[in-house]
Parts: sequence; structure tokens; C-alpha cells
Amino acid sequence: MTQDKVRVPDLARMKAARQPITMLTAYDFPFARIFDNCGVDLLLVGDSLAMVVRGEANTLAVTIDEVIYHTRAVARARRRALVVADMPFLSYQVSPEEALRNAGRLVKEGGAEAVKLEGGVAIAEAVARITAVDIPVMGHVGLTPQSVHRMGGHRVQGRKSGRAPGCRERLLEDAAALEAAGAFAIVVEGVPPSLAREITAHVAIPTIGIGAGPDCDGQVLVMHDMLGLGESCAPRFAKPFAHLWNEAAAAASSYVREVKEHAFPAPENCYAESRSAAR
Ligand code: KIV
Repeated sequence: MTQDKVRVPDLARMKAARQPITMLTAYDFPFARIFDNCGVDLLLVGDSLAMVVRGEANTLAVTIDEVIYHTRAVARARRRALVVADMPFLSYQVSPEEALRNAGRLVKEGGAEAVKLEGGVAIAEAVARITAVDIPVMGHVGLTPQSVHRMGGHRVQGRKSGRAPGCRERLLEDAAALEAAGAFAIVVEGVPPSLAREITAHVAIPTIGIGAGPDCDGQVLVMHDMLGLGESCAPRFAKPFAHLWNEAAAAASSYVREVKEHAFPAPENCYAESRSAAR
């Protein structure tokens, strides 16, 4: 791992050198600082915050002001990683001008170094408008959570046996449209590995997979899934590298027990009577 600051052009170099790119979501200062210290290349302030931080059923209610709020905290923690902020639902679909204004807010007010938009051909004009003023754009194709109602749930896209004929071809066109509009990387979510492999071969820019198999140029996970910080099991594609929900529950139970039993606070948890005795 290099200690050098990760910048947008580094991703193309990493793809060329076949160095896997790592991205995790982060929504606050402590986790962003931990992940940055551990060498995660990109920190994504995802609109998934609606689900994993606020307990909502989907990502649709998140506002641009809320993403700015969380991006500020993550950007403050950043030393090395590249900070990418998600553009929430309806912050970029209404017009390319509105998309540009909102992307600019994420950079100016949030401290993001890049923004991420879901979609392909349909949002290519907005992507071109944003990249024309040198705000780097990451695309997102496949299972796009902001399309949850069209998809009929958070469903895997582009299966060979899928119900939407032409879906695989459309996703290849979407990826190509994002590249042509100036995107520097594309998240590929919730597709079979064979399709992720095809998309990765179809575009020259790096792909970053989530639930898309091993053949993308990088991987991204939602931090709560990676840390086992959800009440229910993480999705099949997401490996929990820790079980923090259980650890937090055990810690909170110990705290409750010790207070009830008058074991906490103990003398070592109390301030000294005089300053001279204080540690
Ligand atoms: O919002 C998010 O966390 C995302 C990731 C799933 C890529 O878009």
C-alpha cells in the first residue's frame, strides 16, 4: 500500500497495473479515519446511509443536504483516500444544470473529490455537464438502488434467464455511455460475474464491483455489511469481516449490568478530590 494521497488519475494507473482498487462506504469521522488509516483507496459517502444509518427501507428519501452533512465528517477524516459523495435521488435527474449545481455543492460544501450518479444512457448528459467543469464523476450500473420501484425490489440485474430481455446489452450500453460522458470509474452492482466481466472488458475505465463477482477492477462494500454491524444477516455477496453488532451488544449489556450492580463507576473511573492527586 502506498501512503501517497489517492487521486482520480491513480485509479486508471491501478487498473493498468492490475492492482485491485478498494472502496468502503463511510458516513462519519471515526470510521472514515479508521478505513483511511487502513489503506482503503476510496471512501464513498453512499446514499445507503438511509438504510444502514437511519433504518429506512430504501435510499430514496435522502437529500443533498444530508449527504453534504455526512460528506463533511468523512472529508475531515480523510488523509489518503479519495472521497466520493453519492448524488441522491432527484438531485441530478431533473436537468443537467441542477445536476451540476448539486455536484458542485458536494465538492464546495461537503469536501468531496468526486461524485457518484446511478444510471447510464439516461443520465449521460448530466454526467457530461458535470465532468465539463472538472468535477470527477463515478457511474453506477446494474442494480441501481434508486430504481428500486422499477426493479420491483433490490434485485440482481442482467441474469441470462432474467425477466427483462436485452438487459445485459442495455447495461453494456450504459457503461459505454458513462465512459463517453467522461466518468472516471463505474460501480457495477448486483449482476452475475460473467456480466461484470463483460462490462469490465467493454470499457477502458476501472469498474468497482459489489455483488458482481471477482473480475471487476476493484471491490466496494457497505461498511455495516463488512463489519457485521447490521441486525440481520448481511447479503450473500457481502462477507462480514467482523461481528460488531454482537460485540456492541455484549458491551452495552456489560455496561447495563455493571451500573445496576454498582460496579461502575469504580474508583479508577472517578476524578481525584485534589488536582495534585489527579492523573
Ligand atoms: O450508496 C451506496 O452505499 C452505494 C454502494 C452500494 C456502492 O452506492
